[in-house]
Amino acid sequence: MRGNSVEILKFNNNEELSEKAAEVIINKINEKPKLTLGLATGSTPMQTYKNLVKAYKDGKVSFKEVITFNLDEYLGISPTNPNSYTYFMNEHLLHHVDIDENNVHIPTGVGENSEKECAQYERLIKEEGPIDLQILGMGLNGHIAFNEPGTPITARTHVVELDETTVQANSRFFNGEKELVPTHAITMGIGTIMEAKEILFLVQGEHKAEGLRKVLYGDVTEMIPASILQKHPNVTVLTDINL
Ligand code: F6R
Repeated sequence: MRGNSVEILKFNNNEELSEKAAEVIINKINEKPKLTLGLATGSTPMQTYKNLVKAYKDGKVSFKEVITFNLDEYLGISPTNPNSYTYFMNEHLLHHVDIDENNVHIPTGVGENSEKECAQYERLIKEEGPIDLQILGMGLNGHIAFNEPGTPITARTHVVELDETTVQANSRFFNGEKELVPTHAITMGIGTIMEAKEILFLVQGEHKAEGLRKVLYGDVTEMIPASILQKHPNVTVLTDINL
């Protein structure tokens, strides 16, 4: 990355990457028990969450005062649906640690008024934020959260239509059935994400190599949303990709 404030940590595999990611998160929580933590879903952070659950069970960290904000949620899927991001978070992390459910924030995908939900989510982040540490993954097309190519960098939490490539990529969670993947989602905007004090950017797998190189060393462009991270003052990239 061009910015001096960016650190790139390279790992041999996802296991090592996830060990480090969990270590960073645990240290942050131990330094500041009332940490505001931004969370992502997807394949990438799964092992990290597993490590966090283990650390909690081993008495190395407590989530009692931690406040969480998830990046996104599908529209039209209820929180109890196994494909919802709420369900994902509960399964992989939240239900296995001592977090106070009142401190957990995930956009609601089944509210009557999704625009209102977006505004409310922004308000909550303002009230309880800023986000101290944001866990972030990257889509194949360079998306962050569900900010697809072309999203303005100033965008706040909003409703999006998912890119064809994202629907295709995420169909693996829907038994490969593309038609079952929701077409819309609520996502934190790029502007919202950029206000996090620190970002832990996890990018795993050779299939994302070309995308990551562009993100780190190419131009900052709305057509590659993650490239904006070059302008963030405190990003750590954790990757197993040979750059
Ligand atoms: C998930 C999210 C997405 C994913 C990205 C990578 O909350 O916001 O941007 O981080 O699509 O997904 P995986 O990790 O499944 O490759």
